[in-house]
Amino acid sequence: MVNYDHLTKEQLISELKEKDKYIYDLKQANEEVKNYAELKTELFSIISHELKTPLNIIFGAIQLMENIHKGQEKCSYSKPINKYLKTMRQNCYRLLRLINNFIDMNKIEVGFFKLNLTNNDIVKTIEDITLSVVEFAQAKQINIIFDTEIEEKIIATDSEKIERVILNLLSNSIKFTESGGTIEVYIRSLEESIAIAIKDNGSGMPEEMLEKIFDIFSQVDSSLRRQAEGSGIGLFLSKSIIEMHGGRIYAKSQLGVGSEFIIEIPTRIIEDSKVAEVAISAERRIEKIHIEFADIYS
Ligand SMILES: Nc1ncnc2c1ncn2[C@@H]1O[C@H](COP(=O)(O)OP(=O)(O)OP(=O)(O)O)[C@@H](O)[C@H]1O
Ligand SMILES: [Mg+2]
Repeated sequence: MVNYDHLTKEQLISELKEKDKYIYDLKQANEEVKNYAELKTELFSIISHELKTPLNIIFGAIQLMENIHKGQEKCSYSKPINKYLKTMRQNCYRLLRLINNFIDMNKIEVGFFKLNLTNNDIVKTIEDITLSVVEFAQAKQINIIFDTEIEEKIIATDSEKIERVILNLLSNSIKFTESGGTIEVYIRSLEESIAIAIKDNGSGMPEEMLEKIFDIFSQVDSSLRRQAEGSGIGLFLSKSIIEMHGGRIYAKSQLGVGSEFIIEIPTRIIEDSKVAEVAISAERRIEKIHIEFADIYS
């Protein structure tokens, strides 16, 4: 506590005036920082959306070219054309994934990211998405094993967003596991929650990174020489989505041995609401996997 007893009246007034000015300057600076943050968010949002429009047009044109090219397998340039079309499509998926992640990251930061909760079977959601990925993993000679303690569990979730979390965790495991490796997805029923574990025998991570990896843009190897692609947004989004469900996500890992990500979601349901059948077409699901896995199979 500052002692002002020794000051004259004039000195005291001058001291108070100086303090007032200091507070005023601080408020001004705070306002400027807030304006700057809002501007940054808005700019981010505009750029992301502006990038998405031309990208969708390019993507549409690629699909048209693929359709036109179908049935022309006999022509001499069919092979290179197919190769180039595949490269273009794959890179569209990569850009689309990055832009989608940027848009959602931005929405989370300003509180516009919302869940669409319905009562649905979480076991089915996890099983369906895991099984859809098996073929993709096998292309890298990685085996996926699914197991569950319970056959069915109806809880309130945004199943599309939960699918996205699982896809991100599976894509990470595939990315950081060598050919011949194994990924296990296991569902357990806890007292007031359901636990989903995704375990791989890949590269693993050092202990001190286990919490940091959930921060935005955080990667164990962020050097330009790193083998794996990615921007370090996936786990930040996953953590935000799980916490919005009232749950938690954490990782266990050992360098050179493997990693395990565990998600716990409370077993709550929405009262007076029917159980929603999550009807997502196989085609749409495969498209989502292509987008999520674009960095692995580029
Ligand atoms: N299963 C895993 N095994 C080893 N390291 C992992 C694993 N999962 C995540 N990591 C580490 O955590 C980092 C962050 O993961 P995150 O999913 O957020 O980003 P990313 O995969 O690099 O990029 P993206 O935004 O495309 O998902 C990874 O870059 C990697 O260093
Ligand atoms: Mg990732």
